[in-house]
Amino acid sequence: MSTKNFDVVVIGGGPGGYIAAIRAAQLGFNTACIDEWKNEKGGPAPGGTCTNVGCIPSKALLQSSEHFEHASLHFADHGISTGEVKIDVAKMLGRKDTVVKQNNDGILYLFKKNKVTFFHGRGSFVAAKDGVYELKAGEESITATHVIVATGSNARQLPGAPFDEETILSNDGALRIPSVPKKLGVIGSGVIGLELGSVWRRLGSEVTVLEAMPAFLPTVDESVAKEAAKLFKKQGLKIELGVKIASVTKADGGVTVAYTDAKGAEQTLAVDKLIVSIGRTANTIGLNPEAVGLALDERGMVTVDHDCKTNLPNVWAIGDVVRGPMLAHKAEEEGVAVAERIAGQHGHVDFDIIPSVIYTSPEIAQVGKTEQQLKAEGRAYKAGQFPFLANGRARALGDTSGFVKFLADATTDEILGVHIIGPMASELISEATVAMAFKASAEDIARICHAHPSLSESTKEAALAIDKRTLNF
Ligand code: FAD
Ligand code: NAI
Repeated sequence: MSTKNFDVVVIGGGPGGYIAAIRAAQLGFNTACIDEWKNEKGGPAPGGTCTNVGCIPSKALLQSSEHFEHASLHFADHGISTGEVKIDVAKMLGRKDTVVKQNNDGILYLFKKNKVTFFHGRGSFVAAKDGVYELKAGEESITATHVIVATGSNARQLPGAPFDEETILSNDGALRIPSVPKKLGVIGSGVIGLELGSVWRRLGSEVTVLEAMPAFLPTVDESVAKEAAKLFKKQGLKIELGVKIASVTKADGGVTVAYTDAKGAEQTLAVDKLIVSIGRTANTIGLNPEAVGLALDERGMVTVDHDCKTNLPNVWAIGDVVRGPMLAHKAEEEGVAVAERIAGQHGHVDFDIIPSVIYTSPEIAQVGKTEQQLKAEGRAYKAGQFPFLANGRARALGDTSGFVKFLADATTDEILGVHIIGPMASELISEATVAMAFKASAEDIARICHAHPSLSESTKEAALAIDKRTLNF
């Protein structure tokens, strides 16, 4: 056994951890990253939840299922006939696994390129001595001057219904259902429920989503949430709000959920598979925080300040294991900022302009404040909205659902929030994020030339709508 001494050791190789390691190495630090994720052969699979059972595989399946739906329902509009459209689920899952592996391999290549030492195994604190942290990296003993904890999160279980990944599924099992279930239940109408519910609905499952909250997508702008509920219902996604789950029982190869509906009536839902997507909990399993006295909060998250500093000198924590939205790009930004702070630079994350996207069809994307937040704050604002129905490119694409909505300060015209439901909302939101980072006004966007025909013209038109002067609606 050898001891290796590093300037910076990152525990966890998800989007927060691997990006932090690369940035630290770029800044000249002798850096290591420890990650324990295993592929099916037991080999390393860096990239964390995002790459292995999150962002990347879910988007691969969303793409496959969208192609299936287009071929089944929309090709005929273009004069294309296909005969019966079939789905080979094993092939679809195999493609998804290939996409995941390409990303795992890409990260290993990036570690080599940037001279980051990679340890495949569990990372844990052993002791702190004379300003140096002793750690285990798998079987090896190493030391670090700075430690960045980036150990991510795990799916939250419903009490009394542990994941078996056969019938009661977390995001992991939900991404590898071997054949299209006839009936699929989803508990929780959050991001995972909607995205993965959409995948299997498009492929033919009858999907019912049971949600505890009385309002649908409460963190999304109300007008967008209303539009989304209408469109998802039209697509055949059944969403029941205000339910209280009483029990989940496995029987005859399926699952029965007993619940009380919003009117207080007792109901049961029998399904072949059940996805439980009711949020995620911080992961510190195996980290051994007690060995060095690393403080966790009452939810089990590593306690950090605004700058990701923990209670210990030179120990930082980023991503899903700390407060803030559980998003890959938030984890990455924190990783870069922490590496720069270690180097004595002024790393910065603007938590007010972190975009978020729900990759349903249509996509839902937002940045900044919602209208209900501005109302609650008593802030005077103006709203402008433009429908994709009036956009030439959307018509040519055959996808005119949804709209772009701008919210701007009533006096200064500064953009306070942008909300998009519609085609490629995930791409369109970047313009709004850039504009907000530069503290742009709605007028700024309205005066910038946008290519024609493009979906982004709807962004410009929504900015024009702030002053009630849209040109195409
Ligand atoms: P993680 O990605 O969870 O990585 C943590 C890593 O640390 C893991 O590899 C884990 O094995 C390792 N680890 C933990 N403890 C130890 C230890 N003691 N020793 C060694 N290694 C350890 N976000 C988006 O922004 N966009 C999306 O489209 C999106 N889609 C998602 C879809 C799904 C189905 C899910 C579940 C999540 C999705 N997310 C998405 C959220 C995103 O995956 C997380 O926010 C992101 O992965 C958090 O990154 P992280 O680096 O903090 O942690
Ligand atoms: P979520 O927080 O988005 O949604 C959970 C939902 O479950 C909420 O609507 C909540 O009210 C409901 N719920 C909680 N307990 C319940 C109960 N007992 N019965 C019924 N409903 C209940 O969490 P989700 O979907 O699990 O996703 C976890 C995280 O992963 C999110 O924080 C999200 O940021 C991230 N993610 C991001 C994606 C993206 O950016 N596109 C995609 C998927 C996940």
